[in-house]
Amino acid sequence: MYDFDQVVNRKNTNSVKWMGAKDRYKNPDVLPMWVADMDFVPPKEIVEALKTTAETEIFGYPLPPLQNEELTKSIQTWLKRRNEWKISKENLGFADGVIPALSLALKAVTNENDSVILQTPFYGHFKILIDDAHRKLVNNFLHEDEFGYELDFDDFEQQIIDNNVKAFILCNPHNPTGRVWSENELIQLAKICQKHDVYILSDDIHSDLIMPGYNYQPLAKIYPEYSDHIITFKSVSKTFNLAGLQIAYYITTNQDILEKMNTIRAESFQPELLNSFATSSLVAAYTFGERWLEELISYIEKNYNYLCSFLKEELPKARVANLEATYLSWIDVSYLNINEEELQQKLDDAGIGVETSSEFGITTPKRLFIRINIATSRDTLELGLTRLKTALS
Ligand SMILES: Cc1ncc(COP(=O)(O)O)c(C=O)c1O
Repeated sequence: MYDFDQVVNRKNTNSVKWMGAKDRYKNPDVLPMWVADMDFVPPKEIVEALKTTAETEIFGYPLPPLQNEELTKSIQTWLKRRNEWKISKENLGFADGVIPALSLALKAVTNENDSVILQTPFYGHFKILIDDAHRKLVNNFLHEDEFGYELDFDDFEQQIIDNNVKAFILCNPHNPTGRVWSENELIQLAKICQKHDVYILSDDIHSDLIMPGYNYQPLAKIYPEYSDHIITFKSVSKTFNLAGLQIAYYITTNQDILEKMNTIRAESFQPELLNSFATSSLVAAYTFGERWLEELISYIEKNYNYLCSFLKEELPKARVANLEATYLSWIDVSYLNINEEELQQKLDDAGIGVETSSEFGITTPKRLFIRINIATSRDTLELGLTRLKTALS
């Protein structure tokens, strides 16, 4: 049993979540519950693997990742075991993060000024990478009803037609709403893309953090008819709390796209080789991390249930989205009837560091949202929620 209740002191640990909070929030005593990393130590087998790597005392250039049999095998085995997804080694590519890999892919499948569609609210870095590539962002707003967040397929298709959209960044499962898209939903999206020749960049970084009772499927696996237009992005960074080690991989059956991405990478001097520690961590995570992961998911589920009962009791007008995946809880606080700046001031005064509406592309007047990271010890969560109550009461 891993002790997720243990409070890990992350102050003075060079952590952007804890140390960087000082630059983001005005309150020097802010409790950071923002960026998506966890206040947990990873499985000890990963730490052991990193120590073993250090003890080799060999830190020269490693072989290119595709020639590292242990690395490619561990990915193939993980995807086969967890998602019944058989991939061949030739369909793999590597990068030092999902965002850098998405950026390469976007440049490989679109041209400047092309339109790129995504579901809004969206993970903020998607906008940054679309802007950076001089592409145009097109919003397909999620529909929200009493049952939660739903896709608006009619609007999706209309936006594609109206804006001559060339690429779609799918987030499966979805950050920030926590939705796991069903097989039917995914296939419906893919069919619309196929009809209009739209490439799909599927960011599945949260796909190992699925709550009990929900079923994640990789789109490229369930809709092979269109797999040569789909690139899937994965990582161990969210799942095992290894974001500082910087490793990600992507999968597509389209060899031309893989080659184009390699060319763009070379032209922009992005690294082709992986950091040896990152590689060891991935192999150890996929080889030994599954039991830890199951316990982690169960802990997050309990934290989420605690958050729901707390809000029901203390802030009954706040509407919490169903957490089907991830450790990021999305809360609608539009009832406050204030603007986002006022909300941020209240949160700051109470010392709780969360992210709000506009960071996820929501700028509609009177719509106010908070995304709170619940991957922390119960004690820290309780403290955070108490501060949230002070801010919003
Ligand atoms: C949906 C999504 N994609 C990508 C990332 C970042 O990935 P990386 O650090 O590998 O670039 C995050 C981090 O929060 C995320 O939530």
